[in-house]
Amino acid sequence: MKFSTALTVASIFSTASAFTPSSLRTPVSVATSLNAVSKKDSYDITLLPGDGIGPEITEATKKVLQVLCKRQGFTMNLNEALIGGCAIDAANDPFPQESLDQCLASDSVLLACIGGYKWDANPRELRPETGLLKMRKEMGLFANLRPAKVIDQLIDASTLKREVVEGVDVMVVRELTGDVYFGEPKGIDVINGERVGYNNMIYSESEIERIARVAGDVASKRGGKLCSVDKANVLDVSQLWRDVVTDVISKDFSDVELSHMYVDNCAMQLIRWPKQFDTIVCGNIFGDILSDEASMLVGSLGMLPSASIGESGPGVFEPIHGSAPDIAGENKANPLAMILSAAMMLKYDLDRPAEALLLEEAVEAVLEKGLRTADIKQDGDGCELIGCVEMGEAIAELVESMEIKDVVAV
Ligand code: IPM
Ligand code: MG
Repeated sequence: MKFSTALTVASIFSTASAFTPSSLRTPVSVATSLNAVSKKDSYDITLLPGDGIGPEITEATKKVLQVLCKRQGFTMNLNEALIGGCAIDAANDPFPQESLDQCLASDSVLLACIGGYKWDANPRELRPETGLLKMRKEMGLFANLRPAKVIDQLIDASTLKREVVEGVDVMVVRELTGDVYFGEPKGIDVINGERVGYNNMIYSESEIERIARVAGDVASKRGGKLCSVDKANVLDVSQLWRDVVTDVISKDFSDVELSHMYVDNCAMQLIRWPKQFDTIVCGNIFGDILSDEASMLVGSLGMLPSASIGESGPGVFEPIHGSAPDIAGENKANPLAMILSAAMMLKYDLDRPAEALLLEEAVEAVLEKGLRTADIKQDGDGCELIGCVEMGEAIAELVESMEIKDVVAV
């Protein structure tokens, strides 16, 4: 079943800081659910173009959204803000307070990509990635949805065999504000005369419970199969993860078939036979790694959107690819992942499933027409190589002229 409802996660308790040991933490919200946000005539959207190819793909996406709004009779106020390297240059902060305030005051946030060679040698607090982590934490975006759906027209762009990837449709639900990414204590100290580096892999019950609920909900609206990934044969934190996920799913998601898999095995199974997976749920670091792996099943990172959502308030929607500084400003970037991220935003945050579907179908139609940016062009495929601007225009034209399907939100 297609997951086609708008989504927010309702808040009951305020989010506690993940920087304190679990015993000292206030439980985070445990009563999460996926709900439709009411459809409106006018939305305030924050656009975060970021770095590298970000401004180009944002421009292309903006044009598509403007055409979509005109056609469908609603408005989107698209206001830009700074994040990443450009924010470091302008404000000496990878995610300035002003950007955070603007994001929190919007209905939703659409982010392009961040980072570049220029900032690679900066101290950690002045690196673009720190801005991204700060945004996730400050906005309480604890659930990250990363779909990897193989697109028929691009099967040959995958490095795996056609029979392995054909029909693959996996959703990775990654916990995004906990784990070794944010756990304390952490640091590099001198112990017994040598430097020792350490981080803390830590999850509280309530943090696991709320991501398990999101995953249960997502799985029940997709194929009904949920695979929880951990390293419970070695890690205590994973044993707790496994126990809590089992409890939540067996009590409240009786229609979901739950299985467990160790992360090393999952990494192998994703390449061996990815069609066995429907929805995967995992912690932050395992999800970081597995979602990159899952994305390569599809062939190009340039096609993959993602959604990061919290208990309430705006979500952040972004392509999973990086800022590709090597091709920035050359009109070679692929804007399709950002356009598909806008589709996820329409579906999950703005209660506009029909418009989301229209964008998804326009992307499919553009590929069907044989138009390709460089990253998805194969030698001898007979397709036409076009730039980022032309790809945006082609999608906009289709959005203007295509028939819209009647989508009923579930
Ligand atoms: C991702 C990225 C980030 C992460 C980096 C840029 C901090 O790899 O979104 O997957 O590790 O979460
Ligand atoms: Mg990553």
